[in-house]
Amino acid sequence: MTKIRAAITGVGAYLPEYILTNDELSQMVDTTDEWIMTRIGIKERRILKGEGRGSSELGAGAVLDLLKKTNTKPEDIDLLICATVTPDMQFPATGNIISDKAGIKNAFSFDLNAGCSGFLFALATATQYVESGNYKKVIVVGAEKMSSIVDYTDRATCPIFGDGAGAIMLEPTTEEFGVMDMLLRTDGAGRVHLHQKAGGSAKPASHETIDAREHFIYQEGQPVFKAAVSNMADTSVELMEKNNLTADDIAYLVPHQANMRIIDATGKRMNLSSDKVMINIQKFGNTTAATLPLLLWDYEKKLKKGDNLILATFGAGFTWGAIWLKWAYNG
Ligand code: UT7
Repeated sequence: MTKIRAAITGVGAYLPEYILTNDELSQMVDTTDEWIMTRIGIKERRILKGEGRGSSELGAGAVLDLLKKTNTKPEDIDLLICATVTPDMQFPATGNIISDKAGIKNAFSFDLNAGCSGFLFALATATQYVESGNYKKVIVVGAEKMSSIVDYTDRATCPIFGDGAGAIMLEPTTEEFGVMDMLLRTDGAGRVHLHQKAGGSAKPASHETIDAREHFIYQEGQPVFKAAVSNMADTSVELMEKNNLTADDIAYLVPHQANMRIIDATGKRMNLSSDKVMINIQKFGNTTAATLPLLLWDYEKKLKKGDNLILATFGAGFTWGAIWLKWAYNG
C-alpha cells in the first residue's frame, strides 16, 4: 500500500502591531541595545497591548490568514492543535477558542504544551492523524502572548520574549513530500531551570505568590543555554545521519529562535552555511511555540517544492527535537 505522508500546504501568521524596541526596554530595566544584540541578537519584538486580549486572538488571526491564503472553508477543517504556554485561561483549551473565533465547526481541537518545542511536538502529533488517512485538513497553530508572563523588571528575561502566532495546514499526500522523519525528546529533570513557579495545581495563585512575582517566567539562563546548544545540535545531526543527509542536501535549517548564539552553534554543527539558516529573531524575539511557523511564513516565498528542511527546537521541560520534511509547494 502507498504510504500517506503529511505535507504542509500553507502558512499563515498574525503579529500584533506594537513594537517594543531595545531602546524602550533600556528605559524600563538596566540594559542596552548593544548587550541585547551581542548576547541574544534581538532588535525588537511585538507586544499585544490591551485588556482582555489573549493568545487566542493571535492564534485566530493566524488561522484566518491561513484559511484565506489556502482558500479553505473553516467547516472543512478536521482537527486543530494549538501549541501554547500562554493559554487564554487554564481551561477550556485555547485551541477551542481559536476554532470558535475562526468559524471552525466540524473539527475537534486541543492544546499541547511542550514549551518552545510546542509547535514541533504538535506538528509531530498532527502528522500521525494525517498519516492515518482519516484526517484530510489539519491545522497546527503556535500562539503566544509571552508578554503576559514576562517580568518587565527582570533584565535577564524581559528582552528575550515576544508575542505572535503562526499556523500551518497539513494535508495527506501519496507523493514523497511532507514529514519524512522525526526525533523528539524530553527530560523533565530540566524543569528546575525554566518554569513558572505558581498558578498551577502544585502552587495555586495567592496573595503570597503574587507578592513573590511567581507568575512570571523563571529562567536560569546558562544551564538552559548549554542544554539548548548541545541537544538541538545533537538531535539535528543524528536525524541527518540516520537519513543519510549531508549539508548539501539541506535547503534550510528552521531553528527555534531563542538566542542567535544557539542558532549559530546548531548551524555550524550541521556544517550549514549561514544562508541556509532561517532567522527572524531580530524582528520578533522568542515567541516560544510560534517561532517555527513564523519562520516558515517569513521564508515561504523562497521555498521550493522538494526542499529538504530540518526543523529543530529546544525549550522548557526540557523538550527538544528535530523533524525532517520535504517542502511540498513553490513559494
Ligand atoms: O526558548 C526557551 C529556551 N531558552 C533559551 O534557550 C535561553 C537560553 N539562555 C540564554 O539565551 C542566555 O543565557 C541569556 C540570554 C538568558 C543570558 O545570556 P548570558 O550570556 O548567559 O548572560 P548571563 O546570564 O551569564 O549574564 C552575564 C552578565 C551578568 O552580569 P555579571 O554577573 O557578569 O556582572 C548579568 O547580570 O550579564 C548581565 N545581564 C545583563 N546585562 C545587561 C543579564 N541580563 C542583562 C541585560 N542587560 N539584559
